[in-house]
Amino acid sequence: MKLAFTGIISFGLVMILVLLSWSPIEPNQEGSKSVQRGKKIYASNCAVCHMANGMGIAKVFPPLAQSDYLMEDISRAGETIRNGLKGKISVNEASYTGMMSGFSFSDQELADVVNYITNSWGNKAEEVDATWASKIKKN
Ligand code: HEC
Repeated sequence: MKLAFTGIISFGLVMILVLLSWSPIEPNQEGSKSVQRGKKIYASNCAVCHMANGMGIAKVFPPLAQSDYLMEDISRAGETIRNGLKGKISVNEASYTGMMSGFSFSDQELADVVNYITNSWGNKAEEVDATWASKIKKN
């Protein structure tokens, strides 16, 4: 009898834990946790120039959405974000001669924002992590 009682109590506790971890109210978000964090970093640091839709501004701020320049070299994107970029570049057959300042992000933040821009607006790439970002040195 005592054993059955303990059994029911523990079963009840397990069920409560299961119900607590199952939260149907959570909004349906897209992407990994890293991409989701990157989206916030992007919104507060990058969207002013590259726009929320990643399209940039013609002739002034290059697009990140389906940018051939971005997608052909993701380490270079990491360097650009960490150290800035200056001089003439060509993005999707349009040239830009602008300047972007670097950001003092942590390795995790750098990885998150890179994961966001390389996995949004039709872009698709394998995700990077903080270890990847730690190899991108600050100039
Ligand atoms: C003040 C405006 C500005 C902000 C803010 C800014 N950028 Fe840029 N970004 C530029 C400009 C201008 C260039 C092109 C620089 C050049 O012509 O050499 C550029 C280039 C780039 C490129 C390479 C070109 C491409 O289109 O693929 C990437 C990647 C990039 N930025 C990502 C970011 C990310 C991520 C952030 C936020 C962490 C950010 N930028 C914030 C202005 C900005």
